[in-house]
Amino acid sequence: MLQDPSTKYQPFPVIKLNDRQWPTKTITSPPIWMSTDLRDGNQSLFEPMNAQRKMQMFTMLCEIGFKEIEVAFPAASKTDFDFVRSLIEDDHIPEDVTIEVLTQAREHLIIRTMESLKGAKKAIVHIYNATSKPFRDVVFGMSKDEVINMAVSSVQLVKSLAAKQPETQWTLEYSPETFTATELDFALEICNAVTEAWGATSDNKVILNLPATVEVATPNVYADQIEWMHRHLDRRDSVILSLHPHNDRGTAVAAAELALMAGADRVEGCMFGHGERTGNVDIVTLALNLYTQGVSPGLDFSDIDAIGRTVEECTQLPIHPRHPYVGDLVFTAFSGSHQDAIKKGLAVQKDDAIWAVPYLPIDPKDVGRSYDSVIRVNSQSGKGGIAYLMESEYGVVMPRRLQVEFAGIVQQHTDSNDGEIIAADIWQLFSTTYLDNVVGTTISYKSHRLYDEDGKQGIDLNVDINGESHSLKGQGNGPIDASVQAFKTIGFSVNVRNYEERSMNSTVMGSDANACAFIQITDPNDQAIKEVYGVGIDPSIITASIKALISAVNRMN
Ligand code: KIV
Ligand code: ZN
Repeated sequence: MLQDPSTKYQPFPVIKLNDRQWPTKTITSPPIWMSTDLRDGNQSLFEPMNAQRKMQMFTMLCEIGFKEIEVAFPAASKTDFDFVRSLIEDDHIPEDVTIEVLTQAREHLIIRTMESLKGAKKAIVHIYNATSKPFRDVVFGMSKDEVINMAVSSVQLVKSLAAKQPETQWTLEYSPETFTATELDFALEICNAVTEAWGATSDNKVILNLPATVEVATPNVYADQIEWMHRHLDRRDSVILSLHPHNDRGTAVAAAELALMAGADRVEGCMFGHGERTGNVDIVTLALNLYTQGVSPGLDFSDIDAIGRTVEECTQLPIHPRHPYVGDLVFTAFSGSHQDAIKKGLAVQKDDAIWAVPYLPIDPKDVGRSYDSVIRVNSQSGKGGIAYLMESEYGVVMPRRLQVEFAGIVQQHTDSNDGEIIAADIWQLFSTTYLDNVVGTTISYKSHRLYDEDGKQGIDLNVDINGESHSLKGQGNGPIDASVQAFKTIGFSVNVRNYEERSMNSTVMGSDANACAFIQITDPNDQAIKEVYGVGIDPSIITASIKALISAVNRMN
């Protein structure tokens, strides 16, 4: 049993912002995205990426469309330092991409960091120091003034070193680490001091990054903190207000979304939420959430499976099968009622209409996923999913009552075989239940001849019954009725309850099989009125119908 938390934890204090504006805002354009996969994401891996994996990740991030990428913590490791050098020296940085590097606000680390950037065309230098009370009092033993001084003198050092590397177009980023746990007025004071020290202008903006280093409160609190800063910062037009949410409470995406409504311009995060502890905010989810609201995110996730595979390869960490947008199971419905609704929704969804398919917040095709993976069938599934797979994979559009009958047969199979059944196995089950019995069971079709007699339809029907050839004759209102009468002559009496025929998609089954007939019969002598379906497939619709009748008679007996 969990202990009483009230003696150990306390609620996060409410931010005094009674006229908060963010709750009525919507996000109408994407933020500036900054990927920190190669820094925050990398430092938190069991095995940080080697140079080859870092390059693979960098290339992918550029292809996705990130224009700002934090590539390293160069003063922290030789691998990171060398990686920055190879990006610059071997000319790997696209013209429209700016690399960013992180350093603590400490002199020798800043000097080493600036060295790593020699020759870069553009660079963002990201300095940080922790600002919250526990860090000031316990970790560093510093007063507020000393913490401000640490930040300001570091900015001045970056400025003077930058002046000696004029070939580079410099941007400064400053993070008051542990911002969300810092008194807001102190966070404001230190941020304003940095803006001032850098000499930020509207043409040379400073990036002020306000991290939820540890997520400590509900997302609305982060939004309040950001709106408060947005409204109080000096020279707001000279500042790019950036977010860096972590996911300790599992609400980083929500926090980032609300904080964007609150006035932020930029978001730092990682692919699929990699990063320290529970991760940085997941940029893929954020971007695709925007996409599903009709806002183009400016990042290309049209082949999300390929991106997922590259991220898994580089990080050596698996993506959860239920991870939003990318997980193996997120476009999959096992429940019968979900499958039914999806099938109906997909059937009426027009290419040029607003997306409105039940249970699918995004068209799987938009992220390179196919409908094939949408419907999966297990013992919980109903007729909808089975019908969908039969139609999409094999071109067989089953009548609703056959769907119900066949779903029961599939369920028996999944119950006794314990688990999921794939489309090919469903087709196999369908064939052995409804089609294969036409050949090699009690009665099998051989040939027929139709003729008119006294204004009626006559038939000569050649069948094998238990391996022996029989030639049957019948007359009726049409070919099916004539066949029913022909069977009566040898003691197989049936009533036809329902008949449907469909043409099949020849690309699915091949050009030889293009008509499908469904016949539902009852036994006139059976009090219980057992209804049985038979199915026939043939290039000729008449032959398909006779085969369907034979299939039903076989199943009845
Ligand atoms: O989470 C954090 O606070 C950081 C800073 C270095 C920006 O990663
Ligand atoms: Zn971080």
